[in-house]
Amino acid sequence: MQLARFPRRRYTPSFTPMEPAPNLSAVVGGPEIWIKRDDLLGLAAGGNKTRKLEFLVADALAQGCDTLITVGAPQSNHCRLTLAAANKEGLKCRLVLEQRVPGSYKVDASGNNFLYKLLGVEAITVKNAGDDLNAEMQKISGELEAQGRKGYIIPGGGSNALGALGYVACAHEIAAQSFDLGVSFDAIVVASGSCGTHSGLLVGAKSVHFDAPIIGINVRRPRAEQEANLLKLAVETATLLDIEAPKARDVTALDEWVGPGYSIPTDEMVEAVRMTARTESVLLDPVYSGKAMAGLIGLSRQGHFKRGQRVLFVHTGGSPALYAYQDVLRQA
Ligand SMILES: Cc1ncc(COP(=O)(O)O)c(C=O)c1O
Repeated sequence: MQLARFPRRRYTPSFTPMEPAPNLSAVVGGPEIWIKRDDLLGLAAGGNKTRKLEFLVADALAQGCDTLITVGAPQSNHCRLTLAAANKEGLKCRLVLEQRVPGSYKVDASGNNFLYKLLGVEAITVKNAGDDLNAEMQKISGELEAQGRKGYIIPGGGSNALGALGYVACAHEIAAQSFDLGVSFDAIVVASGSCGTHSGLLVGAKSVHFDAPIIGINVRRPRAEQEANLLKLAVETATLLDIEAPKARDVTALDEWVGPGYSIPTDEMVEAVRMTARTESVLLDPVYSGKAMAGLIGLSRQGHFKRGQRVLFVHTGGSPALYAYQDVLRQA
């Protein structure tokens, strides 16, 4: 397997840090927690989508496209970073925003929504949950074609096999850093949404025989549905690379920390965001990494992770969304 066979743009000059979180570990009172700082990836304000976009945008450029089209929630980190990548490459960007929570799009909202405007989005289309979002992106692509332009459609979260290669590369990076630092892990914990991050990590870890279990903390879907989606994408990614795919037994996406639904705050998320900020000065986000850290803390309290073990938290970024949740987090 050679990842270098796939065209790739580079948006981060080097590996992201992988660092111990001793103050957080002491407060949680369980395993030794380490953090893989993918919140420090390149492009505007960083986060996991940057790794996927390195492969997706390279493909768009190879196809001679001039406009990136993608879809996400009103506070989508993926939309912000797709737009940021478009700017870097001299491309245009159009966004389709899905109101997963009815009425959640507010034209003047802060956070990522503000950044869409600051970064100069060409157009935003707002749709509702249940609408055919792919059809909407196809429609935009058709409109561009009629103007002599060429759109490149990136699926939600950048989560297809090509995008997941970004997290195959990340798994290799983690394995190399682990070896370099002489630090091994008993588990990896990561937020699991549109699946590209988690599936890519599963495929990449397997390909280098890095055998720590990778535990997804689901932010949206019931466990069985999410695990089926993860396995499907992992198989597609392994097929693209022509390597052995992970098995169903390798895939875990716990759903106890979703709470009432996608993007809806929970007490555990608020506690995790506050605790991580106040112990390590690391900013999580309310929708993904906050709920994922709540999962890590919860699993430690349940005794699933114990003292003497070492757990790596993959910080997938998202801190701009904090500014759209000030009412919830200010009370903390
Ligand atoms: C900050 C952040 N963390 C985690 C995720 C989940 O990653 P994935 O969609 O690859 O499962 C997302 C997805 O939008 C995200 O924005």
